[in-house]
Amino acid sequence: MKHLVAPSLLSADFANLQRDIEMVNNSLADWFHLDIMDGVFVPNLSFGLPVVKAIKRHSAKPLDVHLMIVEPQRYIAQFKDAGAAILSVQIEACTHLHRTINEIRDAGMRPGVVLNPHTPVLSLQDIISEVGLVLIMSVNPGFGGQEFIENTYEKISRLKELILQKNSQALIEVDGGVGLKNAQKLVDAGVDVLVAGSAIFGESNPVQAIADLKNLA
Ligand code: DX5
Ligand code: ZN
Repeated sequence: MKHLVAPSLLSADFANLQRDIEMVNNSLADWFHLDIMDGVFVPNLSFGLPVVKAIKRHSAKPLDVHLMIVEPQRYIAQFKDAGAAILSVQIEACTHLHRTINEIRDAGMRPGVVLNPHTPVLSLQDIISEVGLVLIMSVNPGFGGQEFIENTYEKISRLKELILQKNSQALIEVDGGVGLKNAQKLVDAGVDVLVAGSAIFGESNPVQAIADLKNLA
């Protein structure tokens, strides 16, 4: 399948959010990537359910929600109600990941698992066939505009192998420091979904930046 592009609204202009949502609606982007931070799992706060609901009212594309929060299992129904299509939880925040993944699927969303840079791909070995998406963090989560961690390429290749070996349907998504400088190499390594924040909203022509990420060689 052709890779997808998911602009991260964390780098949008929050005072002009509707304008930036319309820009994404009118671009080649596939999903909206929404970063939820609680100031506990990560050392930053972003936005919560009322803002997700407001984004949903204007978005014409699926909402890909990335929870960087402790005890994410407490909020599954609320994020479904708010309009999430994909709901991803950090593996490091889940004691009962198998149950949480199944609850997300039963609620009607694609269940995703996120791995921090230090978390081994092998930690997914016994859950990969239940997962709809694996998000590999290529920076330490919490902030936009950080530098891409080079070890990510190898990690993606290992994840791709595991997915094929277990006959899993999981998509591979990558998030953090992604831009034109590394997008082609990431897709070549097996990435299905590119998340980008500053490489899109930091550009003078974000619609073109999205098109460039979409139309790789
Ligand atoms: C970081 C978030 C990312 C962030 C990426 O914790 O998960 O989605 O918005 O921003 P860039 O693309 O600027 O690294
Ligand atoms: Zn994210």
